[in-house]
Amino acid sequence: MEERIHVPLIEIPAQVRAGEPFQVKVSIGKEIPHPNTTEHHISWIDLYFHPEGGRFPRQVGRFAFVAHGEAVSGANQAPVYADPELVVTVYLERPGTFHAMALCNIHGLWQSDEVLTFGGPAAAN
Ligand SMILES: [Fe+2]
Repeated sequence: MEERIHVPLIEIPAQVRAGEPFQVKVSIGKEIPHPNTTEHHISWIDLYFHPEGGRFPRQVGRFAFVAHGEAVSGANQAPVYADPELVVTVYLERPGTFHAMALCNIHGLWQSDEVLTFGGPAAAN
């Protein structure tokens, strides 16, 4: 259960070509939503890309979700909540593997990986 609500889901297109922009979506708890309260929430998601044959993964972005109902009047009183979901547009010169890491303020760090291959008639890898 804990794994199903914490492991980041990385969604990428089935067909990606070298140098062409595409969107990567990362979310937490798509099937079963993770709690989003002042007391229990996803604080951030980091996205990395490790190019095939490369020595190091490269950081794509760090996305902090800082609104969880915190207010002067108390926990869960503010009208703003940021759900742990992001979309980023990237383009790549090589295929490789995306790594997403997510931090739950209660249950710690969770990670997932998604391999990206180049495809389509104009693939140039
Ligand atoms: Fe959690």
